[in-house]
Amino acid sequence: MILIIDFGSQFTHLIAKAIEKIHVRSEIISHRIKADEIKKKSPAGIILSGSPSSTLAENSPTCDRAIFDLNIPILGICYGMQYFAKIFGGKVKHASKKEFGYSEIKIANNKHSQKGKSQFAENLLLDGINSGEPVWMSHGDIVSKIPPDFECIASSENAPFVAIRNLQKKIYGVQFHPEVTHTDKGITIFENFAYKICGIEPKIKPDTFVQTAIDKIKKTVADKKVILGLSGGVDSSVAAVLIYKAIGNNLIPILVDNGLMRKNEINEIVHTFENYLKIKLHVVYAAERFYKKLAGVVDPEKKRKIIGNLFVEIFEEEALRNKFADDVKFLAQGTLYPDIIESSSKTGSQKGPSVTIKSHHNVGGLPEKMNLKIIEPLKALYKHEVRKIGEKLGIPYNVLYRHPFPGPGLAVRIIGDITPKKVKLLQEVDAIFIEELRNHNFYHKTWQAFAVLLPIQSVGVMGDERTYENVCALRAVNSLDGMTADWTRIPYEILRSTSNRIINEVTGINRVVYDISSKPPSTIEWE
Ligand code: XMP
Repeated sequence: MILIIDFGSQFTHLIAKAIEKIHVRSEIISHRIKADEIKKKSPAGIILSGSPSSTLAENSPTCDRAIFDLNIPILGICYGMQYFAKIFGGKVKHASKKEFGYSEIKIANNKHSQKGKSQFAENLLLDGINSGEPVWMSHGDIVSKIPPDFECIASSENAPFVAIRNLQKKIYGVQFHPEVTHTDKGITIFENFAYKICGIEPKIKPDTFVQTAIDKIKKTVADKKVILGLSGGVDSSVAAVLIYKAIGNNLIPILVDNGLMRKNEINEIVHTFENYLKIKLHVVYAAERFYKKLAGVVDPEKKRKIIGNLFVEIFEEEALRNKFADDVKFLAQGTLYPDIIESSSKTGSQKGPSVTIKSHHNVGGLPEKMNLKIIEPLKALYKHEVRKIGEKLGIPYNVLYRHPFPGPGLAVRIIGDITPKKVKLLQEVDAIFIEELRNHNFYHKTWQAFAVLLPIQSVGVMGDERTYENVCALRAVNSLDGMTADWTRIPYEILRSTSNRIINEVTGINRVVYDISSKPPSTIEWE
């Protein structure tokens, strides 16, 4: 994990985003944090953010100086660099010419290294960056003299010290902002810092992960039982198989048919688990209960709450009905790292950039009622890492590489109120879209694809008849983890055949549209 110490920069959240892009965990924390607290978190590296303040101003933000003695690599960005430069005996001054926007980096070589004292060691931070590459500046102050024992590793036209380092102390600084996209190779700098300087492994090792997770689950659970809500998606499936490998039949996987799944999905999940993975599922057929509670509800957050609560209710009934109820002490969830980021909304001095975008469907109500402890064996992983673990566990390709599907299912894809008839309609439309993608070998070329039923009717003409029927939207996106996404450029040929089939085969739809919005500003689901 990399800890980002926030001095109040408008770009701090972009640092976190950049770190996320290179698949490293990060946490943004206030500059008031004490070195002791950092030590407890044991980050592999620390980044000091920029700031709207000047280090020359009174009351500019500071941090605990003991942080620099923790022997943890540090990268100071803009203010972050100026701040430590002053602490270690360098000088900062107001620049004669403020520098905002485009600049070009000049990488230092042997001659520029301080006093030519030591041989210029490999420039790990700027590895892969060449002189003349664009970097984006936003500063009024510059480091005019670097501290003793630091060396300059890059400059620019307006700033003599654009990147500096002290190899022994493992302290690095850049004057520009690698976190903004205008610094073309900014991500490379974060990769260099994380992988080459902090020694973070860019990829998880499936063998080690599986064995460690199994040992940990065995130790935590002992001879007790674990219930798990299985959705058939990648996350809960991988969690189920991982836990099954650890505790065998002491895992009770419960699959709730809420009537909001894709066409034939429940049967397919049961088939895969029982026939292929040899794991017996407890299936609860509860579609009618869900439809009844959802009748007339239009507000998407209300739908989510109803589905979440009913899920908890059913889950609880099943767990209590289970003859081993007394032994059920744990609830397993397939929570991933992005779920945690997106659902967390911190407050106070440790306020982070993440806000709750929508209430994710989980079974969070259960532990309070049943006194269950949560186990989340995948919570440190990204989706693509979970798939690697799944492969290791022998889970079939079609389960691991199926498109993500939201917990509340088709409920978030039927805009307006939900009726069994609308669900059936959408299931048919969705099935045709997915079938066409598969027929054209395009299913795995997009990250997620689905149909949305709109509460709009429009005029059409079929034969000599005027029709007045529903509109559906098709959505397909490319993404790595669902946090950001771009719409997939599906070939027109596929869109054409999909649209033709939907209108011809699904009674009730006479118009198909394709969604061309990215996330942000849109979300992937329509809700
Ligand atoms: P949004 O619509 O937030 O979706 O851009 C991002 C990704 O998350 C999926 N999604 C969910 N997954 N429970 C889930 O497990 C949920 O409640 C949920 N809501 C959205 C969505 O399909 C997309 O892949």
